[in-house]
Amino acid sequence: MGILKDSKIVNTIDMLAKAQKGQYAVPAFNIHNLETIQVVVETAAEYHSPVILAGTPSTIEYAGIEYLIAIVDTAAHKYNIPIALHLDHHETFDDIRRYINLGVRSCMIDASHKSFEENIRIVKEVVDYAHSMGASVEAELGRLGGIEDNMVVDEKDAMYTNPKQAKEFVERTGIDSLAVAIGTAHGLYKGEPKIDLDRLSEIQREVDIPLVLHGASDVPEHIVMETIKRGICKVNIATDLKIPFSNAVKAYFVEHPEANDPRKYLTPGKKAMKQIVIKKIKMCGSDGKA
Ligand code: 13P
Repeated sequence: MGILKDSKIVNTIDMLAKAQKGQYAVPAFNIHNLETIQVVVETAAEYHSPVILAGTPSTIEYAGIEYLIAIVDTAAHKYNIPIALHLDHHETFDDIRRYINLGVRSCMIDASHKSFEENIRIVKEVVDYAHSMGASVEAELGRLGGIEDNMVVDEKDAMYTNPKQAKEFVERTGIDSLAVAIGTAHGLYKGEPKIDLDRLSEIQREVDIPLVLHGASDVPEHIVMETIKRGICKVNIATDLKIPFSNAVKAYFVEHPEANDPRKYLTPGKKAMKQIVIKKIKMCGSDGKA
């Protein structure tokens, strides 16, 4: 099944189970194109880290699912580390089913804006299909603030995860990992983010599957590391990669206003992004764990 024979793209079940046992996290980097995928996989391979490449719905629309699968599978054959291609914040069963049929093995179904019962119903439908295809499923309970893709959630509409509800949610849906809302937001913060670590510990006591931290950009490193001690096994990073990449490209054009060769002007962006990927792998403690 899928567009590829002998695909080496994996689901996230094994890598997150190992991270949970070893008390580290697997970084999930949002990628957008060939260049960003190259930086992430080359760096992860260099540091022997398992890695998750995350694509939001608009990334899939931009890059094309067939291209993404083919590029990521090429990387998975080239490097001897576990590499997952993950559908980040997908909202419809039909899209997820189509991408799984093509070869994706990891998804997030985000129905966190729906009622508790509706969230369970939608997630369960995805879990039943994904599991029958060997794909893993992440879902979110509570709601993060901030901007991700075309999704804008005002701070006042953000909602923290209720630990008791989390237990029921996990039991009734059969998901493989749970995205928690504990005060992080997508994008940059206005002040110092206030992360509810006690709530995270409570969730960890109630729920035995790996927990996922969204909105990890711009959160002080020591706080992310503390969340990893309290059950976070997957750390999602997007904005912290986009900023250095684009800043380096902008700086290149300032210095070389006549530039027109993508191989030249994208290279500084890749180099700048690589430094952050290294930092995040070390923060997650996933180096040497592949
Ligand atoms: P940041 O852009 O805040 O890193 O959020 C990424 C994310 O959570 C993707 O799902």
